[in-house]
Amino acid sequence: MGIVLDLFAVPRAERSRTRKLRDAFFRSYLQKHPETQKIEVDLARDYDKLPAWDEWDVQTKFEMLYGEGNLDEEQAARWNALSRWTDQLHAANLVVVSTPMWNLSIPWQLKRWIDAVVQGRLTFELHKGEFRGLLTGRPVVLLVTRDGAYPPGSPMESWDHQVPYLRTILGFMGLGPFHEVIAEPLGFGGAKAAQEALDIALAKATELGQSL
Ligand SMILES: Cc1cc2nc3c(=O)[nH]c(=O)nc-3n(C[C@H](O)[C@H](O)[C@H](O)COP(=O)(O)O)c2cc1C
Repeated sequence: MGIVLDLFAVPRAERSRTRKLRDAFFRSYLQKHPETQKIEVDLARDYDKLPAWDEWDVQTKFEMLYGEGNLDEEQAARWNALSRWTDQLHAANLVVVSTPMWNLSIPWQLKRWIDAVVQGRLTFELHKGEFRGLLTGRPVVLLVTRDGAYPPGSPMESWDHQVPYLRTILGFMGLGPFHEVIAEPLGFGGAKAAQEALDIALAKATELGQSL
């Protein structure tokens, strides 16, 4: 049975265009793969269950990355809690990330999840000076919205620290290949352009759901 990790950083409810993309993708994907088990991670709701990165967390990370893995009781409990998030990634056959652009990048709730799951021994390893991702064989769907437009080859391309960053950091853990649906411009080009862009992206999300 296929397991899909459905990760979304979407504070708005029915007004959210990102949520509409996510709904369109899953409606289509689940129609084709009705046996799928979906693990939902609602980051706008559950972000405070993720590590906040105080000194204990940083020390634990470094011990597991560079040290022998000797943890005291408190550190072991924290590592254990953190590994439940990475277990979800290991369990998945497909990872779907639904996110708006926030200040040219990603919402901090999604960054907090990334800071939790990018961990030596759990999702990547450092072997003789080389990094190796441990999550290979898991494609990623990126469902992305933004008010501006940052198309390849345009002067705005270099302002996009959202999609290239997600490709890089998720790819660092071995995830991929990437399938992307980018709805843009959803604001700065006016209401008509926004509706057209959203309609095109919804159709693409539906198509992608059928093709995977
Ligand atoms: C805090 C915040 C920061 C944003 N920063 C950007 C930005 O840098 N560039 C951009 O194109 N849109 C930006 N937007 C617009 C959102 O990316 C866009 O409206 C998105 O569709 C919102 O998603 P939603 O409809 O799912 O709520 C920002 C929105 C918010 C709330």
